[in-house]
Amino acid sequence: MDKETITASKALRGSTTVPGDKSISHRAVMFGAIAHGRTTVSGFLDGEDCRRTIACFQKMGVAIQYDQTLGTVVIDGRGMEGLNEPSELLDVGNSGTTIRLMLGILAGRPYFSVVAGDESIAKRPMARITEPLRSMGAQIHGRRNGTYTPIAIPGGGNKLTGIEYSLPVASAQVKSAILLAGLQAEGKTTVREEYRSRDHTERMLQAFGARVDVSGNEVSVSGGQTLQARDVEIPGDISSAAFLLAAASIVKDSCLRIKNVGVNPTRTGIIEALVAMGGDVTFENERTLSGEPVADIMVREKTLHGATISGSLIPRLIDELPVLAVIATQAKGRTVIKDAAELKFKETNRIDTTAKQLRQLGAQIQATEDGFIIEGPTPLTGAEISSYNDHRIGMAFTIAGLIAKGETTIHGARAAAVSFPKFYTTLRLLND
Ligand code: S3P
Repeated sequence: MDKETITASKALRGSTTVPGDKSISHRAVMFGAIAHGRTTVSGFLDGEDCRRTIACFQKMGVAIQYDQTLGTVVIDGRGMEGLNEPSELLDVGNSGTTIRLMLGILAGRPYFSVVAGDESIAKRPMARITEPLRSMGAQIHGRRNGTYTPIAIPGGGNKLTGIEYSLPVASAQVKSAILLAGLQAEGKTTVREEYRSRDHTERMLQAFGARVDVSGNEVSVSGGQTLQARDVEIPGDISSAAFLLAAASIVKDSCLRIKNVGVNPTRTGIIEALVAMGGDVTFENERTLSGEPVADIMVREKTLHGATISGSLIPRLIDELPVLAVIATQAKGRTVIKDAAELKFKETNRIDTTAKQLRQLGAQIQATEDGFIIEGPTPLTGAEISSYNDHRIGMAFTIAGLIAKGETTIHGARAAAVSFPKFYTTLRLLND
């Protein structure tokens, strides 16, 4: 059965690692596929989404060898022009990052392609990608005029032109898609965002030899640039570490070291939020790995208090908000999470799936248009919970289960495999 039963946890103690960063894993495969030469990726996330990215580029004729045991991927890129017309549908499964970034590449290719995914992908908004790509000259067809998948790109060789584009909401997926189309466009492409979203694309394009100009919240690339292959070492995913940070912060007497985690400042919002709530999180052994900052993270259980989480912090912890809501149920006073309407457009509507199920556990949480209001601390009581096939929802409620009275059953627990395949084993080991 695809379920896990969680009971109240003893202190979590010891040292552990988390799987490779999902955002960086996708980009390493895509950029390796459009670069010239051999890219060897180590520390690749063995998750379902990232495997979809490999499969899609293999369907475009790129030679990619994936060694699951070693966690290495070897990509023999032949440049953007070396991609072939896929003879099948490019199926992205559940992966928003795969479809959105790949559309930026496909928009400038001369051949016909069709992309689609699972039922969650079919509900996620694609107009945010297809509109700017169309304004660059791309021809794109799709359900509801390009708002939803399936999406077809007829190709046919019309040239893209660079644009200046202000993102209506901070989104690294949209920014990256436009930059990838910009590499194939005539002239310069500039993307502006009000708040900075994760910048792995900017960093990795530079590492692959592209010229990327970053000035404040504005990023520009010129068309006609080629990428040169290079090896990429992927750090642990801070979004996966976040579940362990949360558990160790709220389970009595816990103390953990999470080694080799990516601490890119565009991703560390969860740590800032925890510290603002009185949490005890510190970095050790700070270093740089393939252009990305990395550290070992130390976290100890601490009495927490409520805080307001909003504005520029939101894109820096967007994926961590469900588990932050769980943390907030144990913090003294009111926590307000706002400016996070984007949560509605993730693998599930995470405002709904988080608030309604936390209420089932006894939390005092109100869903708002753009976040949550949570009063704490409240004791939680186990209940029947669903992941709704959303990895981060399943894992966030597992953490809630560690402090709840009685049993919490997570139905659809297998969803964790998208980003943290050994999540349940890791928790059990830390609890021994
Ligand atoms: C991602 C960007 C974020 C994030 C997603 C991964 C990326 O999405 O939620 O999990 O790798 O670029 P948005 O860009 O839509 O905010």
